[in-house]
Amino acid sequence: MAAPSSPDAIRDVNTRYHDCAAADYDAKWGIDWGEVGREQVLGKLRKALGGALPVFDRTLEVGSGTGYFSLHLLMAGVAARATCTDISPGMLEVLEGNAERLGLEVTTQVADAEALPFEDASFDLVLGHAVLHHLPDLEQAFSEFLRVLRPGGVIVFAGEPSRVGDRIADVPKRAATAVAPLWRAALRASPAPEGHADGGEENHELERHVDVHAFVPADLAGLARDAGFEDVQVRGEELLANWFGWTNRALETTAVPDEVPMAWKQYAFHGYLALQKVDAGLLEGRLPAALFYNLLLSARRPEAG
Ligand SMILES: C[S@@+](CC[C@H](N)C(=O)[O-])C[C@H]1O[C@@H](n2cnc3c(N)ncnc32)[C@H](O)[C@@H]1O
Repeated sequence: MAAPSSPDAIRDVNTRYHDCAAADYDAKWGIDWGEVGREQVLGKLRKALGGALPVFDRTLEVGSGTGYFSLHLLMAGVAARATCTDISPGMLEVLEGNAERLGLEVTTQVADAEALPFEDASFDLVLGHAVLHHLPDLEQAFSEFLRVLRPGGVIVFAGEPSRVGDRIADVPKRAATAVAPLWRAALRASPAPEGHADGGEENHELERHVDVHAFVPADLAGLARDAGFEDVQVRGEELLANWFGWTNRALETTAVPDEVPMAWKQYAFHGYLALQKVDAGLLEGRLPAALFYNLLLSARRPEAG
């Protein structure tokens, strides 16, 4: 399949890929609906906004997927009323099921982040996790975020890949792929059939085309400033944790999922959490944002504007 060549084609590939990936999405990414997941979400928001979190009355999430951020914010009482949007109806269907299981009320709407179907100044917080890098027209998206925020409202976008971090992450991914046969033999796991993940071969092919950006921190900050935001901050997070995480993920995708022993999964999960602490405590304040894998953007709509 050729790379999509127009903004509409990029949106179409994203919709089809995520519709197909939706049912297995939470399991694939190890999304946790308990205390661990909540602390992950709140920790990112605290880092972005610098300290204790207020209660946001009306929140809007773009590219909300299965609800990881918004549902945790509702459970933690940080969001009072949450609206979740996504270009993929399939992802929102899974989100609705998650919300029902967790006993949460949430408004969902299929929408492109670049054309938000809401009145001006409707929200106190506009947020997203791992979504900006899928959007073909970022200038248009940022002008929509500004428009739907009330004056003084804030945006937080987390989990955006940095350009350097993305290249560095390729090294552990390649190394893991090279040693995968030995790793499977040690764990007595069989090789996964070709194209088994995310709804089969066709979706595996679509996955190669859904990501359209990796960011330089200054450029990401520039997008927010040019749209009219102030107090713009871009931070970097997760370096060692991501190398470790990508290595393990690359290994795991080569094996039949049910044959990967629980002890390995526990080691991968707890190792990731431990390295996140090392990153946050030792590296994030000392190294340039561009080196980290994930970028975290926060900004404010001016009071008068
Ligand atoms: C990597 S997933 C992240 C989902 C969720 N935020 C999370 O962290 O689990 C990216 C999400 O962005 C959505 N998306 C992609 N392009 C979009 C667009 N143009 N407008 C709105 N959502 C979009 C996808 O459908 C998908 O649900």
